[in-house]
Amino acid sequence: MAVFVLTVVGLMLAASAVNAEQVNNYRMCPNTDCLVYDLFIDPCPQAVYNQACQWTENSNTSIAFKYNPDFGSNIPVTQLYAETFLMDLPFLDIDTNACLYTNCPVMKNTEQNWLFNLFVPKNYGKTYYVVRFAVWDKVNFTTCCFTFDIKIV
Ligand SMILES: *[C@@H]1O[C@H](CO)[C@@H](O)[C@H](O)[C@H]1NC(C)=O
Ligand SMILES: *[C@@H]1O[C@H](CO)[C@@H](O)[C@H](O)[C@H]1NC(C)=O
Repeated sequence: MAVFVLTVVGLMLAASAVNAEQVNNYRMCPNTDCLVYDLFIDPCPQAVYNQACQWTENSNTSIAFKYNPDFGSNIPVTQLYAETFLMDLPFLDIDTNACLYTNCPVMKNTEQNWLFNLFVPKNYGKTYYVVRFAVWDKVNFTTCCFTFDIKIV
C-alpha cells in the first residue's frame, strides 16, 4: 500500500497528468546500460490494450518514467528518434540537453525520474511511429535506450 501511494504521488509530481496511463509494451534496446520502469504516457488510453498511444496533432503530451543507469553523466545528451526501415530520424525540435528533463548530474546505479512535456506539431505526419528514446553521456557514449509505439492521428 505504501509503495502504491508513493508511486501515485510520485507520478502526480512527475507528470501532473490525470490522463497518464502506464505503458507496458515498451522494449529496452539490445545494448542498453540501464533499467527503465514505471513508464507513463499521457494521453495513452490504448495502453490498456498494449497498443500504440494515439496522439493528436497540435496537442500537449507527456512521457514520464523511472530509470536506473549503469553509468553516471555530468553532461547527458538525449534524443527521440523515429525508427524507419533505412535509418532512425531524430525529432529535431526536442532540446537534447537531458538536464531539462531529469536531475543532473545523472547518478550511476540510482533510481531517477524523467519527464518530457512534448508538443505534437502538425508537420510530423499522421502515421505510426516506433519511437526510440536514448540518453547518453557526451564523453563516453554509454547509453540508456528503449522503444515504444506512437500513432499520430
Ligand atoms: C500546450 O502547452 C503550452 C505550454 O504549457 C500551452 O501554452 C499551450 O496552450 C498548450 N497547447 C494546447 C493545444 O493545449
Ligand atoms: C563515462 O563518463 C562518465 C562521466 O562523464 C562517468 O561517470 C562514467 O563512469 C564513464 N563510464 C565509463 C564506462 O567509462
